[in-house]
Amino acid sequence: MTDLTPLCRLVILISGRGSNMQAIVSMIEEQGLPAQVCAVISNQIDAEGVNWAKERGLTTACISHRDFATRADFDQALLQEIDNYQPDYVLLAGFMRVLSPFFVEHYHGRLINIHPSLLPSFPGLRTHEQALQAGVQCHGSTVHFVTPVLDHGPIVAQSIIPVLASDTPESLSERVLATEHVVYTAAVRWLIQGQVHLDAQGKVQVKDLEQRSFYFHA
Ligand code: GRF
Repeated sequence: MTDLTPLCRLVILISGRGSNMQAIVSMIEEQGLPAQVCAVISNQIDAEGVNWAKERGLTTACISHRDFATRADFDQALLQEIDNYQPDYVLLAGFMRVLSPFFVEHYHGRLINIHPSLLPSFPGLRTHEQALQAGVQCHGSTVHFVTPVLDHGPIVAQSIIPVLASDTPESLSERVLATEHVVYTAAVRWLIQGQVHLDAQGKVQVKDLEQRSFYFHA
């Protein structure tokens, strides 16, 4: 018997190392999920993650924001490239660009991001410095649907770690990143399996999921 379930089509956007992208690609392969990473697209020509994706035989594309006069022009070109692959979901995985509202609206309910803090705390850059500065005792990462507001949007899942007295921005970054791979792969698996979606009211709806938080000890 042939399985006619259509594959969930994913496009992943990166700007650098791409460790979250690697974790997602590997998870899909290892778990044999009904999904296909149709393309890995970078805005940085020399992104480390692009080489990894190429070696894995994935389709890659680079669109440099430097080649465009305005943010809107770049975002329009990026949107056109993404839409060539007709994705069900577009996954931002360390994609270091603020996206125009028209871009975000175009992918409403289909655009996902991971941010290295427990949102709504510490949007923006240098989240680990912000966490240490604030003296929070828990830190972590958040997978969320993207809205036009930067690092904001309906939360799919979070990872939580304790902050230690000895922590530095570097040690926190390292420990949070390891948990990002766990929480992002879980969230993508839920999307692929149709266990999570954004409803018409902009709320995250889940099926057969009791817990969407991942706690880690030091
Ligand atoms: C991650 O910390 C992610 O949360 C942030 O940028 C970093 C990207 O890391 N948005 P990588 O490229 O996935 O290794």
